[in-house]
Amino acid sequence: MSMLTVSAVSGALGGLVSGINLCAPLTTSEVSALKAALAEYQVLFFRNQSISPDDHLRLAELFGRPQLHEAYPHVAGHPELTILENDRENPSKIEVWHTDMTFRPCPPLGSILHGVIIPERGGDTLFASLSAAYDSLSSHLQIFLEGLTAVHDFTYGFKESLAEPGGRERLAEMVADNPPVEHPVVIQHPITKRKGLYVNALFTTHIKELQRSESDAILSYLYRHIVLPEHCCRFSWEPDSIAFWDNRITQHKPVNDYWPQHRRMQRITLDDGVRPSAH
Ligand SMILES: [Fe+2]
Repeated sequence: MSMLTVSAVSGALGGLVSGINLCAPLTTSEVSALKAALAEYQVLFFRNQSISPDDHLRLAELFGRPQLHEAYPHVAGHPELTILENDRENPSKIEVWHTDMTFRPCPPLGSILHGVIIPERGGDTLFASLSAAYDSLSSHLQIFLEGLTAVHDFTYGFKESLAEPGGRERLAEMVADNPPVEHPVVIQHPITKRKGLYVNALFTTHIKELQRSESDAILSYLYRHIVLPEHCCRFSWEPDSIAFWDNRITQHKPVNDYWPQHRRMQRITLDDGVRPSAH
């Protein structure tokens, strides 16, 4: 039996896992090793895992509750498995750095993304560690940020889609279901207790306690600071690569440099119903 090993892919975050077969049910010790590795490395990468939709779901259920996306393109018979597909006719949209769905009171704990069709060149994904970003601030700025509250808003993140013809009508239900929410600017990871900078350019509108111009200046500084190369890693996909990120302590950004090549990914997003907290 091979032993699970994890090698760091950068100083801040990211672990490449080998010695595990995700196409087979995992042993209890493999599951605990993966949980420990995810807490330590914040995003895990795997190569050559030709998982079926059933394997993908079985893996996901070990870590959280898979979200259902009936309305989104999904693998037939598997509403949990969202399809993300781009080609010449359907170019990928430019996406800014973000933590997924922080417009919700309880954003997802993570996602497991499987590369199915991968372009010859391009299409990497960048990840940033929110704890490395917090740790590298001066203690004065850390103290200033702790205790502040940021507002996160679905309509802010989806403003381009809402501005499209028919966008307001198409997204009316999402808008109604997702009023703006507040999260602490500095959160603590529920397992590792590491502190992280929990603001992102996609969904965070402002810091409540500050004047608007102060909030804009601080947020734009933090967005640049979070994604400094020292806080990041970059993953180059191959067919049957998998990335599993902890959404509570990372941001990510897909690199949109592969059009008109074909890229197909399948993703399961996991909920745990836990609200980000400062303690
Ligand atoms: Fe995302």
